[in-house]
Amino acid sequence: MNILFFGDISGKIGRRAVASVLPGLKKKYQPDVIIANADNVTHGNGINETHLNYLREQGIDIFTAGDHTLRRPQTRELLTDKEVPVLRPANTENAEGEGAKVFEIGEKKLLVISLLGRTFIDENIPSPFVVLKEILHAYNDKVDAILVDFHAEATSEKAALPWYIDGKVTAVLGTHTHVQTADERILPGGTAVITDVGFCGARDSVIGVDKDEIINHFLTGGGFRMNIPEYGDAQVNAVYIQTAADGKATTIERINTIVKIT
Ligand SMILES: [Fe+2]
Ligand SMILES: [Fe+2]
Repeated sequence: MNILFFGDISGKIGRRAVASVLPGLKKKYQPDVIIANADNVTHGNGINETHLNYLREQGIDIFTAGDHTLRRPQTRELLTDKEVPVLRPANTENAEGEGAKVFEIGEKKLLVISLLGRTFIDENIPSPFVVLKEILHAYNDKVDAILVDFHAEATSEKAALPWYIDGKVTAVLGTHTHVQTADERILPGGTAVITDVGFCGARDSVIGVDKDEIINHFLTGGGFRMNIPEYGDAQVNAVYIQTAADGKATTIERINTIVKIT
């Protein structure tokens, strides 16, 4: 199975950037399935129906979640529809939707799991390590490949989880920090990992948000508005993963391109 996975698509510029590079990436990698983290798609918080439909038209099949996903009521509404291919974090209690779901990819079955880290995000949510083990137990040997989006802040937490389940899932892909790490590899057991895939959005920004807003936030200690630049250079961060018949990863390749959005 060939899988293409985009890091956090952030705002309109991120949506447009992904749309502009997708035809070329599809030609090059021939993905069987395209997945994207949708934590910041609609003005930085979650995803609405219009933007979901737009990205599906571009070819994205499945959307994973994060710490901003449930902040948008429209996203929570979308999650109640079982036909909508949007996940919530699996270790979020009392929330709409599902955090782990099996998708039919041609003749194959792909289990996608969305998890949220606790360190520096929310120490009170259930442990992603424990929840992941429970999910894997439930789906034991029933799928051809398993992809985990681990949306977390701490590098250490994101480094530990793949070792914990090496060989039991196809890939553990980190998201959330918006900065692509250069540590992609396949662990000895066959699990492909990258600490953070990066993001798709405004390049001349602070992790996607207007840089002056954020500089001011650090200078004054006050809040900031989620102002996302709409034009200029946009970066598109993704990974390409190839799997073998036994569900283990054989390739993980980092994608980092820049497109101009006018
Ligand atoms: Fe994000
Ligand atoms: Fe996030």
